[in-house]
Order: sequence, then C-alpha cells, then structure tokens
Amino acid sequence: FQKEDEAYALRPEGTASVVRAYIENALDKTQGFAKLFYLGPMFRRERPQKGRLRQFHHIGCEAIGSLEPDLDVEVIALAVALLEGCSVQDFSLKLNSLGCQSDKQRFTSNLRSSLEDKKLQLCPDCQNRLEQNPLRILDCKQENCKRVVDTLAIKDNILCADCQAHFTRVRKGLDALHIAYQVVPQLVRGLDYYTGTVFELAHPGLGSQDALGAGGRYNNLVQELGGPAVGAVGFALGVERLLLVARPQTALENLQSLVYVISLGDEAKEFSVVLLSQLRKAAIACDTDYEKKSLKAAMRKANDVQARFVVIIGDDELQKKVVTVKDMRSSTQEEVALSSIVDYLKQKTG
Ligand code: HAM
Repeated sequence: FQKEDEAYALRPEGTASVVRAYIENALDKTQGFAKLFYLGPMFRRERPQKGRLRQFHHIGCEAIGSLEPDLDVEVIALAVALLEGCSVQDFSLKLNSLGCQSDKQRFTSNLRSSLEDKKLQLCPDCQNRLEQNPLRILDCKQENCKRVVDTLAIKDNILCADCQAHFTRVRKGLDALHIAYQVVPQLVRGLDYYTGTVFELAHPGLGSQDALGAGGRYNNLVQELGGPAVGAVGFALGVERLLLVARPQTALENLQSLVYVISLGDEAKEFSVVLLSQLRKAAIACDTDYEKKSLKAAMRKANDVQARFVVIIGDDELQKKVVTVKDMRSSTQEEVALSSIVDYLKQKTG
C-alpha cells in the first residue's frame, strides 16, 4: 500500500527475498553453494478460511547454487524429517516435475489448446488463466474446474530427456530413503518461478487447504533477479497448519507416556525436583504434585491426568536409594534403584 511518497509491501513468501539477499551479499562469489533457512511472518491478501490466514508463518529452507537432483532429495527429506519431528502422522508427499522453461512452455501451449473448447465450463478466474497462465488451472479448487481437469489426459512425457533423467534420479533417491510419494501430474504449484521438481506435503485433517508445506526447484530465479545462472531448490512449511495437526498428536503421545512423581517427605520433595529435570532432559513427559496431597489423593490425581507410570519417593526409600514405580496400566509395582530410574523409564516409555 502507499502513504504519500512511501510505499510498503508485505512479503507474501520468503524465497524471492532470500535469493535477493544471496545476490546482494555476493554469496555466489564468497560461498558459491549456500544452504539457508528462515522463520517468520508472511502476508497474503486471501479470503480467510480454516488454514488460510492473511498473516501466517513460514519455516523455510533454500539451497542455492546447484542443479544436482540429489539436492532435491535432501531438501525433500528435510521437509519430511521436520514433519516427523513434530509428530505429524498420515501426511502424504505429492511429487511432479514441470521440466525446464521450454518444457513448461510446451506443456502450457498443449494445455491451452486442449482447454480451449472447454473454456465456458471453467470459473471466471480460470477463463482468464487460460490466456495468461493455463498451468494454474490445474491447481484450481473450484469443483467445475477440477472436473474439467480430470478429463484431461496429462501425460508425463512432456519432459525433455535431461529433465526426465533428473526426475528419475530424484525418485530413485527418495526410494532409497524409503520416503513414500505419489507422482501427481496435476501438481503445478501457485508460484510462477518453479521449474523441474515440485512437491507438496498434504494432510487429510486440514480440509480443503490441505498443504502443510510445499516447494521445488526454481532454476531461473537467481538469474532473473540479477544473479548468476545457478539452480536452486527449497520449501516452506506453514506453521499454523502444522500446529493444527501436530499439537493434538503430541499432547496425546505425551499423555500416553506421562510419568507422575509423588514425593512423601521433605527430602523426597527436594529430590523429586532433580528427578523431574533428569526425566525432562531424557525427553520423558513428567509432572508432580505441589499441593502436599496425601499418597491416596496424589494417586487419584495421577489417575486423573492419565499417568502411565507413577514414581513414589519416600524419605525411607531415599535412604535405601530406591524408588517405587507403579505401572498404572497393569497395576503392578516394583522397586527400582535410583541410579537406573531414568534409563528404566526411558525404556518403558520409549
Ligand atoms: P506456498 O505453497 O505458497 O510456497 O506456501 C508454503 C506453505 O505455507 C503452504 O503449504 C501452507 O502450509 C502455508 N500457507 C500458504 N498460504 C497460507 C495462508 N494464507 N495461511 C496459512 N498458511 C499458508 C511458498 O511460499 C514457497 N516460497 C515455498 C518454497 C520455498 N518454494 C521454494 N522454496
């Protein structure tokens, strides 16, 4: 927007800015190949709905300076690892290749001619896209347009030999890492800079805006923005969408393995603070009672918070350097040496 002689732009995404920073800071000369990442707010003037906000956040990565297909594999594997690290389950990886600039142009003109006689069945936006950018029609979420797209025979032989070889190598690399994917010829992505490999990570729990993250190659962008002719590939995850699917599962998992510490006596209470910190360092979810409850009341609380294990520490037990661990599922209990309690619980909850 504009205010008197000042003009402001709210960034819609990070890739172009990162490429500009790469060029302005002469990373092509000092570093050549660069792996960069960013986190931050992005802004888009879209109609808000579930998972589609006007201000949202990206976690993004850009690897600039190489055309190697193995780099595509590494970047895709990183996106998958991030989702797995956030305990996101049931996501799918959609993959496609748009080919080089001339492949894209050939594909675009084929598409324009096969859609020409179906123009009136398309939404008004797609009727315009047919002139300006027919590839985006493949991405349209309108039911009518989707139906028209489904009738098209989109073949994967639009790629020239080099792009075909690149795409084959990317798929082989993903196979070697046992990363499951589906080749979706309709996947074109909304941004125009893409060439070659494109991908999207989708989650069925998100509804119509089901992309958790997406990315691909943009081999011409660095040069278009005034830099050298180098290839690049990257992706961005949408943080708000990630939270929609990551949080419930993480909470659930934590609950399923929660350790509840009950300490009876002053020394035992002092020790329980140390134990909680050791358990948390070992990534074991744990909690304790600060209300000075009796053993019976504290056990009831442990039950209420659905603890998987309860660790009972009394002053006497502390003298003997043991604690009692109760398995809340089987209702059995055993004494465990203080020196091995963290390893014991790690094994039980892992
Ligand atoms: P994008 O697909 O436009 O790609 O955005 C990436 C992710 O950001 C989407 O998959 C989605 O999770 C999230 N997202 C996008 N728009 C919204 C919105 N309005 N509200 C909430 N979340 C949203 C890019 O922006 C490229 N720069 C990715 C990239 C990096 N390609 C190469 N390098």
